Amino acid sequence: MNYQIFPFREDDIPEAMDLKNILGWNQTVTDWKKFICLAEGSCFKVVIDGQLAATCFLFIRDHIAWLAMLIVKEEYRRRGIGSSLMEKSLEYCRDRGITLIKLDGTGEGCPLYRGFGFLDEAEAGMFKGRIGSINYAGSHAPGLKLKKVEAKDLEGIISIDTEAFGVSRAAMIERLLLD
Ligand SMILES: CC(C)(COP(=O)(O)OP(=O)(O)OC[C@H]1O[C@@H](n2cnc3c(N)ncnc32)[C@H](O)[C@@H]1OP(=O)(O)O)[C@@H](O)C(=O)NCCC(=O)NCCS
Repeated sequence: MNYQIFPFREDDIPEAMDLKNILGWNQTVTDWKKFICLAEGSCFKVVIDGQLAATCFLFIRDHIAWLAMLIVKEEYRRRGIGSSLMEKSLEYCRDRGITLIKLDGTGEGCPLYRGFGFLDEAEAGMFKGRIGSINYAGSHAPGLKLKKVEAKDLEGIISIDTEAFGVSRAAMIERLLLD
């Protein structure tokens, strides 16, 4: 099958929403816009017959890259497109001296990633459900009040996150919280 990898752009978002909606993922149009800003040129897509067939984003901070949003449209799976996007991403990192690539893999993604030498670091759970009327935070911790994050909270949040994650994700956190 003939296809090329191109940069993902803002006008790809409507089709990308269709791709992720089929999977039941929760990203919004605003999220995709943030991803484009945060991936700074390392957002990729595959187009087949004029339609979006796959996406892949690389978020790079210092020496770490985070690979995300690798989606191949169902009808084109198991034809090497996911692998091509992985190769493109690995090459992109290699060219920039990035020595560590991380990701969180779905059950479908893990065999692909393992084939590229990725190793398990930790297990994560994914849960689906509907939000009811119960105030969960309140019912488990009486007296606890949830508050919207404000600009003045950022410094503290970034400090805790940097300590836990190992590199600063300040730009990403600012966008997530304040946009
Ligand atoms: C995961 C995904 C991106 C793989 O894309 P793809 O284009 O089908 O991958 P490739 O064709 O390059 O597969 C390469 C190899 O990975 C392994 N692999 C890929 N999908 C697999 C699956 N569902 N089960 C088992 N092995 C799989 C196989 O070894 C495959 O080689 P083979 O087809 O010769 O056996 C695609 O299934 C997808 O979009 N899934 C839904 C979204 C998702 O879960 N993305 C991962 C986010 S972490």
